[in-house]
Order: sequence, then C-alpha cells, then structure tokens
Amino acid sequence: MRAFRLTAGAVLLFFATSSTSVPVVSDPTTTLFSAEATAPPQVPHTDVTSHGPYDGPPPTTTGALSADVLAPSIPALPPGPDAYSYPSDGQLHGAKPAPYTPSGGLGTNGSAPVYRMLSDFDYESIALALYQEWIELDLFHWGLATFSDQDFENAGLTTQDRYLIQFMAEQEVGHATLLRNMLGAQAPKQCTYNYPVSNVREYIDFCQKLTRIGESGVYGFMNHLNARDVGQLLLQSISTEARQQMIFRQFEGLFPMPVWFEIGTPQSWAWTLLAPYISSCPGNQTRLIWQNYPSVYILNQPNPTRVNSANVWNETTGGYTNTLSAADVKEDEDCLHNKEVSSNCAPAITNNRTIPLSYPGRQVFFQWDNPGQAIGPNNSYITDTAVKEPVFAAWVSQLNVTYTPLQDVQSNTAWAVQPDMSTYAGDPAVNGTMYLLLTDEDLYVTPFNLSMLNPHVYGVALYQAG
Ligand SMILES: *[C@@H]1O[C@H](CO)[C@@H](O)[C@H](O)[C@H]1NC(C)=O
Ligand SMILES: *[C@@H]1O[C@H](CO)[C@@H](O)[C@H](O)[C@H]1NC(C)=O
Ligand SMILES: *[C@@H]1O[C@H](CO)[C@@H](O)[C@H](O)[C@H]1NC(C)=O
Ligand SMILES: *[C@@H]1O[C@H](CO)[C@@H](O)[C@H](O)[C@H]1NC(C)=O
Ligand SMILES: *[C@@H]1O[C@H](CO)[C@@H](O)[C@H](O)[C@H]1NC(C)=O
Ligand SMILES: *[C@@H]1O[C@H](CO)[C@@H](O)[C@H](O)[C@H]1NC(C)=O
Ligand SMILES: *[C@@H]1O[C@H](CO)[C@@H](O)[C@H](O)[C@H]1NC(C)=O
Ligand SMILES: *[C@@H]1O[C@H](CO)[C@@H](O)[C@H](O)[C@H]1NC(C)=O
Repeated sequence: MRAFRLTAGAVLLFFATSSTSVPVVSDPTTTLFSAEATAPPQVPHTDVTSHGPYDGPPPTTTGALSADVLAPSIPALPPGPDAYSYPSDGQLHGAKPAPYTPSGGLGTNGSAPVYRMLSDFDYESIALALYQEWIELDLFHWGLATFSDQDFENAGLTTQDRYLIQFMAEQEVGHATLLRNMLGAQAPKQCTYNYPVSNVREYIDFCQKLTRIGESGVYGFMNHLNARDVGQLLLQSISTEARQQMIFRQFEGLFPMPVWFEIGTPQSWAWTLLAPYISSCPGNQTRLIWQNYPSVYILNQPNPTRVNSANVWNETTGGYTNTLSAADVKEDEDCLHNKEVSSNCAPAITNNRTIPLSYPGRQVFFQWDNPGQAIGPNNSYITDTAVKEPVFAAWVSQLNVTYTPLQDVQSNTAWAVQPDMSTYAGDPAVNGTMYLLLTDEDLYVTPFNLSMLNPHVYGVALYQAG
C-alpha cells in the first residue's frame, strides 16, 4: 500500500515545529497524502426492519437450545487451590520472560490470538451479545425514522443530538460485524422488533435502559469467557456501548453516572430483558440456551419525566425494562420545562435533582406474571423459573446484592422496602438504572458468582433508582 507521500513543505513544517528557535518559513499546509486502505465489509443489515408484535404462524420450533442437563444447579465450592498462593507483596516471584515483562498472565506466552469461540459458553454468550447489537442498530435508526425533528426538538434534542444517535447506530453496524465475524456462518441474523414507546421521551428512556442491559449483560460474562482474545475485542466494543448508555441518560436529563461501579449480570437476565422486544427472526435463526424469566412489573417505578419521580403509580409501558410512560404526566408535573434549576430535566451534561428518583426506605410495589408464557422471537421461547413463590426482592446494585423480604404477598403482588446501604462509605449502593429481582432465597453472591443466583430467581426487572 502506498501510504504517504511527503512533500518538501511537510519536511519544512516538521523542522519548524520540532524546535522553537527555527523560524516558521511557510504557512502550515496539509501536505500528507494517504490512499485509503480497503476496509473489511460490513455485515449485511437493513437500517429499519418492520415493527410491531409478532402476529405470524406458530413458531416452527420452541424453547431454548438444549442438551443433556447434568444437575439442577452448580454446587458451591470453596476457593480454588491456588487462590491464596500468590503472596501479593509487591515483589517479583518468577523470572521475567522478557525485559520489562512480569511472569504470568493469560494469553501472554506468544501464541497467536485466533479470535474464535472455544466453548459453548463462549458461543452462547457472544451470540447473545450479537442479538443485543442487532436490536440497538435497529432501535437507533427506528427512532430517527419514526419521530419528527419537531418531536425531538420538543424533547429538547437538537439536530446535533440526532446526529449522535445516528452515529451510535453506525457503531452498532461495526459491533454486529465484529461479533458475527468471530462467531462464523451460523451467527444470529438481524430480526424484527417491537418497542414499548410512543413518543421521544419514552424512546430515550427505552434506549437508556436497553443499553444498560447490553452493557451489564457483557460485563457479567466477559471475564468468564474461555477465549480471552475474543473478550479483548468484545471489551473494545462494549466500552462504546457504555458511553451510549451514559449519553442517553444525559438526553433524558438524568445525572450521567450516579454510581461508582457498573453492574455485571448473568446472560439469562440480559436475554430475559431483551427477548420481549424481538418480534421475529429469520428461518433457521441460531437459537440461544438462555432462560426467559417471567416478567416483573414495578408498579411505582420512578418516572424520570416527573419533577417528583418517585411519586408515581403504574406509569410504565409494561414489565421487563419497565420503561416510562409519559402519557399521564401533566405539564406542571413535568420536569422538562421546570424553571427551578434543581428540578429541571432538560437534556444536559448533568442535572442535580433536589428530589431524588428514589430513596432508601421507599415502599416498592410489584406484580409478576406466571411462567409458561410464549415470548421473544416468533413467540418461540417460553418463560420459566424453578421458583414456586418469590420471597425476597433482590436489589442488584453496583458490587452487591441486598435482599429485603416481600410483604403482603398475595395473588402475584407484594411490596418490599428499598434498602439503605452503601457499596463503600460515601457511595449509596442503590442508584442509577439497576436490577430488581424476585427470589426465593437470600443467597450470598458476589460479582463473579452472580449466576449462582439463577436457580433462585423468579423474575427480573430494571429499577429506575436514579
Ligand atoms: C419466524 O417468523 C419468520 C417470519 O414469519 C419465519 O421466516 C421464521 O421461519 C419463523 N421462525 C420460527 C422459529 O418459527
Ligand atoms: C500458550 O497459551 C495458550 C493459551 O493462551 C495455550 O493454548 C498454549 O498451549 C500455550 N503455549 C505454550 C507453548 O505453552
Ligand atoms: C433451514 O435449514 C434446512 C437444513 O439446513 C434447509 O433445508 C431449509 O431450507 C432452511 N430453511 C430456511 C428458511 O432457510
Ligand atoms: C396499570 O395500568 C394498566 C393500563 O394502563 C392497567 O391495565 C393495569 O390494570 C394497571 N395496574 C395496576 C396494578 O393498577
Ligand atoms: C448536587 O447534589 C449533591 C448531592 O445531593 C449536593 O451535595 C450538591 O450540593 C448539589 N449541587 C448543586 C450545585 O446543586
Ligand atoms: C443518586 O445519585 C444522585 C447523584 O449523585 C444523587 O443526587 C441522588 O440523591 C442519589 N440517589 C440516592 C437514592 O442515593
Ligand atoms: C459490597 O461489595 C464490596 C465488594 O465485594 C464489599 O467490599 C462490600 O463490603 C459490600 N458492601 C456491603 C454493604 O455488603
Ligand atoms: C459467591 O462467592 C462468595 C465469595 O466471593 C462466597 O462467599 C459465596 O459463598 C459464593 N456464593 C455461592 C452461592 O457460591
């Protein structure tokens, strides 16, 4: 490839800037020429697929991908044999494999990285991530195509903001291409979708919540992948997704990052929250192994369009993501045009709210569906849980899972108290767009073994804590 041609001017310019004592002899000009290298192609995709709930024939196949099941759950074990063997004392404990190179690490012995799945765990996880990239690609384009410029302006979003959403859609093309290339020919293809939104405010809220599912869904499995090289590329795409999530919060007038740590969730939680918004997938679509838990409705889910977001009843457009409904918010209750700086929620880099979206001690009311319902692409997955009746609300915050008992449990409804706890002193744990689960046990789990909770999960929802 012919990369650069330097002209005399460029050489002079180089000299001129490399030393302050040499006078600039000519105006700086762009004198470097670079032939564009051929870029690898994008994965085939359409910008906006058809929309709406699935109304086609019964699916040709149902249920999650399955194989022999060895046990109902994975038994808990003590730490592995080497867990405490490294002294962690700041000294070196092995010869250096090369200058300035400490011994140890994975994928550091010189073997060429291959960027290929090494296990079912890898394949199913990356395939899930690809389903996520596909829906985001469609969602970002769909919003721009569905709502008028005026609709966006009315929500405080400008032409520049709309372009940012468009650029995010283009990023998704890249992410989908990357994951598809690593998975190979049977990688899941783009589907059609349905979104629980009917105006720009609801759309932005759904985008903010969907990108939370994508970001946290990847953090939960990334360090468990067999293929470290695959994890590396995934990391470099999910860090872009994390920025998208924060930008949608800013578009919604929320505090951009009210937590010190972002949550990482097991794959089945991500699939549970993602699948309801997928209408149908092409024939022979590669299916997933992950569980679809029943829906949990947070009946007083905080509504970020309100000045007093916590003073709310039944203002979501459905379960699962529990996305806001703006339908019943009167003008004087809406924070968008509120004159008080600390009550205003117009799109901004950051907004401080006098009245927080949620608070410790808040009574939070739930309703939940029974398992056994058809959901996801072509209604071909079936919601399932091993739990007979939920007993706890599990508040999955930054690094911790805290349980509060369900009260007044009757006919699929109950309430629980929002706990008062901090991750570390000074960081109230329950904040941001986080996870609320119903479980039958208050099992002690930490970020790297969160999936041990799965057999005890009844249902999964997003809670808009701040
Ligand atoms: C899902 O629906 C699409 C469109 O009708 C169809 O092509 C596909 O075969 C269906 N898939 C299943 C699993 O039924
Ligand atoms: C180097 O590490 C890889 C795993 O990253 C392993 O598959 C390979 O066998 C190792 N090679 C040698 C020579 O130890
Ligand atoms: C699905 O795959 C089978 C076997 O590979 C093939 O016969 C069939 O035509 C495929 N159907 C679609 C809709 O692609
Ligand atoms: C919430 O509102 C929906 C319709 O907006 C209604 O069907 C449902 O019964 C309400 N649920 C409760 C618990 O008030
Ligand atoms: C923003 O909120 C924090 C925490 O609630 C408070 O300490 C701070 O004074 C507020 N700042 C402004 C400028 O309102
Ligand atoms: C969440 O964080 C925001 C921003 O720091 C703060 O104003 C709010 O009070 C916090 N909410 C809770 C429940 O701690
Ligand atoms: C939250 O998790 C961190 C990291 O595992 C731990 O150090 C801390 O004690 C936990 N906080 C609470 C309140 O359980
Ligand atoms: C999860 O890991 C923690 C240690 O970080 C351990 O104490 C706990 O027992 C584990 N939970 C399960 C269910 O294995």
